[in-house]
Amino acid sequence: MSEGISEGTVSNGRGRLAGRRILLGVSGGIAAYKAPLLVRRLRDEGAEVQVVTTANAERFVTRTTLQAVSGRPVRSDLWDEAAEAAMGHIELARWAELVVLAPATADLLARLAAGRADALLCTLRLATRSPVLIAPAMNVAMWEHPATQRNVETLRRDGCLFVGPDEGPMACGEFGPGRMAEPEALLERIVRHFATGERPRLDGRHVLITAGPTREPIDPVRYVSNHSSGKQGYALAAAARAAGARVTLVSGPVALSPPAGVETIRVTTAQEMHDAVLERVADCDVFIGVAAVADYRPADVAPQKLKKTAGRSGGMTLSLVENPDIIAAVARHPERPFVVGFAAETENALENAREKRARKQLDLIAVNDVSDPTIGFESDRNALTLIWEGGERRIDRASKEEVANALLALIAERLAGR
Ligand code: PMT
Repeated sequence: MSEGISEGTVSNGRGRLAGRRILLGVSGGIAAYKAPLLVRRLRDEGAEVQVVTTANAERFVTRTTLQAVSGRPVRSDLWDEAAEAAMGHIELARWAELVVLAPATADLLARLAAGRADALLCTLRLATRSPVLIAPAMNVAMWEHPATQRNVETLRRDGCLFVGPDEGPMACGEFGPGRMAEPEALLERIVRHFATGERPRLDGRHVLITAGPTREPIDPVRYVSNHSSGKQGYALAAAARAAGARVTLVSGPVALSPPAGVETIRVTTAQEMHDAVLERVADCDVFIGVAAVADYRPADVAPQKLKKTAGRSGGMTLSLVENPDIIAAVARHPERPFVVGFAAETENALENAREKRARKQLDLIAVNDVSDPTIGFESDRNALTLIWEGGERRIDRASKEEVANALLALIAERLAGR
């Protein structure tokens, strides 16, 4: 097919993505059949779309189709002299305002996580300074495999954004997470990305974040704690770093690796978290308390493992004393930063959070309705209501990375208005 022949809607300068330059990377999975529809919808909204395929993508969708709907020759080969002469791969990486990888197979995720640059798509991802949005698609077992999850975590830490995978019946006959997000959902995610400037800027700011649970020892082998995984706090730290901030993360015990470029201080108890935060608070512009801090700790820590016989009467009473309230101490500090709290609530969420914001003197509170088991604690997804003096904003259910970016966008907005 000759250049410029197009079955897609020609960009008309209107639409929610008018003039936006999107590089769509398509890899070799069955969900590649959705790629032409996505290209078409992006062009309907006025975007320019350059498709780049991996070698295996064309086993599932033809170059002719992708070229027809995008109105541009499809690129796939790093060593294609004619294509490189027209627009070199570095130039192409700079051209893109957003790189979308849909579908992203397990193999592509592994190659990206390893930082490979032996094929055009992987090279473009390394060469671009623009955001990268990944829509994974694969069999359920492949998605859930620790190797894939490790690669996803690495890519998240590197600042990549994720959409999906969705849960449902799959081409392989299994049911579960692994389906690529539908083109319409991807389109809305991309529109939202450009509309809300989900890459907020926090250059020159120092952001101090607490994440994860605290553990309050009962004896050398037992403790009081909660279900926080640290995922939301770590996502915020990575997003704040990507937004240009210097980030310090004070983390309770979690199974996550520290985000790249973030100073991470590991603590165990609420008292240790309190001390680590208070040592650094005078030097920060924003404090975000995402940690689920234990309000109480055992009054006495037994020096040896408690024996079952300790509760001879058939029961055992644990006496608790109050822990310091870290965020309230930050808010009272003479060099007080912009203070953002979280509120995990199971009932009357908004009402309780409004009261908490006022009592702890917070600039902003993010309400997490954790009565919904599919968001909040341990989940990869979240939804928040943000409350500040004179305003409220809802962040609908999305990945914790997306939620982090939307929250930082509001923080950046409120800081600019101070
Ligand atoms: O870690 P994940 O699995 O990703 O889950 C995320 C989350 C559900 C833990 C997170 O989104 C969240 O809601 N964090 C706050 C949980 C909480 O304990 O809220 P709270 O209502 O008890 O505390 C309110 C605020 O005071 C929080 O900002 C908390 O960090 C802070 N606090 C609480 C007690 C204390 N002693 N010191 C504090 O600073």
